[in-house]
Amino acid sequence: MDMFVVRGGRPLRGRVTVSGAKNAALPIMAAALVANGTTVLRGIPDLVDVTTLSSVLRSLGMNVERKADGALVLTTSDDQRCLADYELVRRMRASVCVLGPLLGRRGRACVSLPGGCNIGHRPIDLHLKGLRALGAQITIDRGYVFARADRLVGADIYLGGSFGSTVTGTCNVLCAAIFAEGVTTISAAACEPEVVDLGRFLNAMGARIEGLGTPHLRIEGGHELNAVEHTIIPDRIEAATLMIAGAMAGGRLQVDGLDPSHLSAVIDALRTMGVGIEITGRTATVVAPERLRSLDITALPYPGIPTDVQAQFTALLSMAEGISVVTDKIFPDRFMHIPELMRMGANVRREGASSIIGGIGTLTGACVMASDLRASAALLLAALAADGESVIRRVYHLDRGYEQLEQKLNQVGADIVRVDDLPETMPVSLQLSDEELRPLAIDSSDSPPPPKFLKRPTKSAPVT
Ligand code: UD1
Repeated sequence: MDMFVVRGGRPLRGRVTVSGAKNAALPIMAAALVANGTTVLRGIPDLVDVTTLSSVLRSLGMNVERKADGALVLTTSDDQRCLADYELVRRMRASVCVLGPLLGRRGRACVSLPGGCNIGHRPIDLHLKGLRALGAQITIDRGYVFARADRLVGADIYLGGSFGSTVTGTCNVLCAAIFAEGVTTISAAACEPEVVDLGRFLNAMGARIEGLGTPHLRIEGGHELNAVEHTIIPDRIEAATLMIAGAMAGGRLQVDGLDPSHLSAVIDALRTMGVGIEITGRTATVVAPERLRSLDITALPYPGIPTDVQAQFTALLSMAEGISVVTDKIFPDRFMHIPELMRMGANVRREGASSIIGGIGTLTGACVMASDLRASAALLLAALAADGESVIRRVYHLDRGYEQLEQKLNQVGADIVRVDDLPETMPVSLQLSDEELRPLAIDSSDSPPPPKFLKRPTKSAPVT
């Protein structure tokens, strides 16, 4: 396991480029299962989640290869395997995206239920409801979803749930509906750009899907599907994370290769806080203000503020002047980052699905623990902006979903060093000097043991 040692307080200046969208890449890779022939995908980021899904697809008989030019090449076979095993699915929930393609293409699917998740309860009942409406027989047995359909038939499906639409659920139902006889309509479909990207990919193959980007989809099933080349959209969550990094760390950061039309809510929120944002084509130039203003934000389905940047906004707002309220309507329990941000001085109180933040201006470096992908991004941003040195443990969460984030940030002035983590039983804590302890009236002999990271070792020189 790796951890980051971050020396904070360095402004970010220069250009960074956004990678392809993880959340578009995963359902599109899974959807390659439905094509005849060889699919070529460009802009697929090099991430642990992509490697995991590649393993799932190989276990289903697909050939998956990364070419020297970065393209991911996926070739279908006559293989009829339909088991997505728990060992792989438990590593990444998005493996469930193979359910619809397998059912549509092979008439059967046996996919492990993903299980628990650090950002809250994440059922797949809406996925199953949509597939059942198309005629699939579905049972849950020994932790697996068994789905079978000799024939799928078009239906009118309402896919809304208590927390809005479902992104991967819409993807699964779309991938099955393109095989259904007749017409399927989906109401309350997810409108996220990643669903639109999947729809465009399927349409390029020969599917007939109308209404992409709206909550009402119409699918005419039964058309032949031939493999195509496709380029994945830019990652709007990575783009937002980088923009917030620029706003927190200070300086002037150019974020290249994004699609500003996917980021309206994020750009509006940042501007309202006083952050200078200039959009030119596919570049956003972020200029950090002297002082950040507080703001109330709510994470909502697209085009609202994405839940996947809620934690990063919480880190940013903890530095703003005044009181802010951050509410998450999609994952109302997604607040594992709060106690860790509080270790860095943030003044945050949780109230149900909201956090109430009293801005404190400056955060301080500390040892913190990442709990999930976006929480780790929030902690990294806080560490970049904080006074002093921070250690972020369990950064494997970050590696699941951000391509070379520390390299990108280091290129624009950050100081992030990746080191081998210590066994978790060993303390990684701050050493306080006698001078620092004096006002606290604590005897220095009581101070925590010296931190192992003070030597700032690199990967090639692991901590001993
Ligand atoms: C996707 C994204 C994830 C993002 C999330 C919300 C991918 C690979 N992941 O996850 O990064 O945070 O959208 O934008 O694209 N729900 C149900 N029943 C269901 C399905 C979902 O109640 O059958 C609920 C969930 O618990 C949640 C809400 O609906 O409260 C939205 O979930 P959903 O859109 O399905 O999230 P994912 O597709 O898993």
